[in-house]
Amino acid sequence: MSATAIAINAALSTAAYCMTVRMIPRFRGMFIKANLFGKDLCKKDQPQVPESYGVVIGCVFLVSMFIFIPVPFAFDEAAATDAVTGGKPDTFPHDKFVELIAALLSICCMIFLGFADDVLDLRWRDKLLLPTIATLPLLMVYYVNYNSTTVIMPNFARFLLGTSVNIGPLYYVFMGMLAVFCTNAINILAGINGLEVGQSLVIAGSVLVFNLIELSLGHQVESHAFSIYFMLPFFATSLALWKFNRYPSQVFVGDTFCYFAGMTFAVVGILGHFSKTLLLFFLPQILNFLYSTPQLFHFVPCPRHRLPKYDSKSDLLHISTTEFKLEELNPLGRLMVTILRKLKLISWQEVSTDGLVRTNNFTLINFVMVLFGPTHERVVTQILMGFQVLCTLMALIIRYPLANYFYTE
Ligand code: UD1
Ligand code: MG
Repeated sequence: MSATAIAINAALSTAAYCMTVRMIPRFRGMFIKANLFGKDLCKKDQPQVPESYGVVIGCVFLVSMFIFIPVPFAFDEAAATDAVTGGKPDTFPHDKFVELIAALLSICCMIFLGFADDVLDLRWRDKLLLPTIATLPLLMVYYVNYNSTTVIMPNFARFLLGTSVNIGPLYYVFMGMLAVFCTNAINILAGINGLEVGQSLVIAGSVLVFNLIELSLGHQVESHAFSIYFMLPFFATSLALWKFNRYPSQVFVGDTFCYFAGMTFAVVGILGHFSKTLLLFFLPQILNFLYSTPQLFHFVPCPRHRLPKYDSKSDLLHISTTEFKLEELNPLGRLMVTILRKLKLISWQEVSTDGLVRTNNFTLINFVMVLFGPTHERVVTQILMGFQVLCTLMALIIRYPLANYFYTE
């Protein structure tokens, strides 16, 4: 069964970790020489830090997975009999094989597109389009192998809609949007040392715990083993990257990493058939996205960088701000801002008598400082990672005891 394949995958992941840890410092000079660096905006003299290291760990991940490709089939009894005895070719699990290859193709595409974004600094419109295109191989394989577009209804909705509803093409739209969401949601919860990798590590750890629980319960063994095959090398290479990206950062991950991470999560969520559970592990990213909507959709002015402001005297981070006149916003923007203000979710400062106000930029990172005041960069990352872990625990509670309540036969 998959146990041997998982053990081999774990060994490959360990090797990938050791290799990445050695590779990262060696590439620093090369990245700077190629002009691939960014300024660490939350430090006193804003040092140059090599950027786009996602491409390094993405390559190690892909190499590990390429070496791993034959393994699940070598230990699959039907496939092995084929190879040894020259038995009937149709016993080879072609569907599983194509699933693995298409998943790697989508991730590979996303690493490439992420790197293009880092080098060319693409517009937001393209950032939404790229993940959609990279998911197409994945959706095609889903269509050929399963084409199951039925959603099981919770108990309270069954009297209205029945036990399940077939949502047809909308299911594919949902899966395409999942990839767009996962990639961009990680990218916009960013800007302080270690946060992009930190949140991805917690999400990958959560997915692994969930997969192991499901395996131990004997639920959809193949799907969860498939997810573990991707999550272990992803976790290992990201852990190596985190060693160098955590405060104070020696390397930056770039959009390449955010896209790579988001796509890997979307791949396991879609082909592992747990996309809704996956979204539960993205709770902080969902909150950050909802909080950000007034700025993302330009109801409120959105500066190029929304990361917190560094104060070199105290070595602490302060909220970064945006300014606008309430009456100049369109009605929807005014409503959003008024609700956020009433709920005390944003800071509020009247700058002049002509109605100009200053609020924090609407990100979860700034919200930490709205709550706790000026905070050290390392502590902000720790608070947000702690919150991510808390959300995982909540997600598991929702997924198990509560889901059993809502979805009893
Ligand atoms: C997203 C955010 C932007 C945030 C940026 C930070 C939105 C809509 N966009 O933009 O608000 O400022 O990420 O990554 O929410 N940097 C640091 N310290 C870090 C990490 C990054 O100073 O720990 C700076 C560096 O100058 C680095 C730059 O951020 O070069 C990378 O920004 P980039 O990834 O290009 O920004 P976006 O993803 O477009
Ligand atoms: Mg980015």
